Amino acid sequence: MSTPKDLEPLAIDGGRPVRIESLPIGPHGIADVAEEEIAAVTKVLRRRKIFRYLDRTEEEGLSEAAQLEKAFCEFTGCRYGIGTTGGTTALIAGLVGIGVGVGDEVIIPGYTYIATPSACLVVGAIPVIAEIDESLTIDPQDIRRKITPQTKAIIPVDMIGLPCKMDEIMAVAREHDLLVLEDVAQACGGGYKGRALGSIGNAGCFSLQHYKLVTSGEGGMIVTNDQQTYYRAACRHDSAMCFWDTRMDFKPFAGENFRMCDLRGALGLVQFGRLQGILAQTRKVKQRILAQIRDLPIVRPCPINDEPGDCGISIVLTTGSAERSLEVSQALNAEGIANGTKHNAGFPDRHIYCYWDYVMDKHSHDPSGWPWTSPLYEGSVEYARDMCPRTLDILDRAISIGITQRFTESDADDVARAIRKVALGLNAKAS
Ligand SMILES: Cc1ncc(COP(=O)(O)O)c(C=O)c1O
Repeated sequence: MSTPKDLEPLAIDGGRPVRIESLPIGPHGIADVAEEEIAAVTKVLRRRKIFRYLDRTEEEGLSEAAQLEKAFCEFTGCRYGIGTTGGTTALIAGLVGIGVGVGDEVIIPGYTYIATPSACLVVGAIPVIAEIDESLTIDPQDIRRKITPQTKAIIPVDMIGLPCKMDEIMAVAREHDLLVLEDVAQACGGGYKGRALGSIGNAGCFSLQHYKLVTSGEGGMIVTNDQQTYYRAACRHDSAMCFWDTRMDFKPFAGENFRMCDLRGALGLVQFGRLQGILAQTRKVKQRILAQIRDLPIVRPCPINDEPGDCGISIVLTTGSAERSLEVSQALNAEGIANGTKHNAGFPDRHIYCYWDYVMDKHSHDPSGWPWTSPLYEGSVEYARDMCPRTLDILDRAISIGITQRFTESDADDVARAIRKVALGLNAKAS
């Protein structure tokens, strides 16, 4: 079959690619680092006070880590914020905060970074893996199917800036008396029905690592409205916290030092100030692309659970089969549009459950096999690399194109033009 005359020949068939120059992809916040970040970090160094609980003069003001916590509280509308050393440590302290511990099962999606199950295991809980749906986020119906008498909590994860179905998830949680810890590592600044992601469940955990929307180098944040959750998480993130912060009315327990220092606080604070500008641009670009590709054969955009709340950092397309998606992906790459299918058999992407080797193998740091073998665990979770076929099928078919705040309108139009060209061209070849 050949491409009809009125359609441009596809680059994959030797036609002229839509773009020669690479799209401005890559990380977000770190790419915008400028004098403000350098000045803020330098100021902390010059002050020679990096530890956040040192006394400050009036002129020195509030610790930068504390200011960043305040900024997250203001944005999310939560009463309490705890800066941490990373998103994983935020999840660990967050799980302890909400009261998850040894023997509890926690339902997580099969598509999330390995840090999510890892945090569960670190606190002695058992990750139970649920399917995602076409929105690439956890399927609330499958959460229901995975509930057992051991289930204590759910971790919805807003992957690549895409909000989860929070209404349905919260409804399941209410019905079954479960806790919800939001993993917002990849969707800082995102929302759902007008509420900030991270503020809807019992607590929310963010990552401020290099690749995230905004960064503090490494770093994370926990937000919550519940005082006991705050005290417990604070204690786990710093077992001496109650001695530094004498207002804490709480009987402490052992923790680890996941404390944020003021160097990270200073960098994160300037970056956080850039967040709304970054999101405004990524969302505008995504809407511009979506508006041009809604009526195509072969490919369609994946459903988005809350379009205004989506961070806009990726366009995700889907087709009817893995083979078709691979074909579209290769044709788009040939047009100069960097993209990839979300799951490529054989490539061990640690964002997909079947490549979480130590989870699949139940391999623990402890020779006893804790926590799976703990006498406190009364469940019988089993894992297999093909246990969530729907997740693998959806990720096989999902084609994703990254968007950054550096995309211009013309970049957006090139992406849309390439998608149209490929969809129409492949459709013509097939008919
Ligand atoms: C969904 C998700 N959760 C948790 C984390 C862990 O964050 P960090 O790398 O800051 O520990 C990440 C980081 O990539 C992530 O993508």
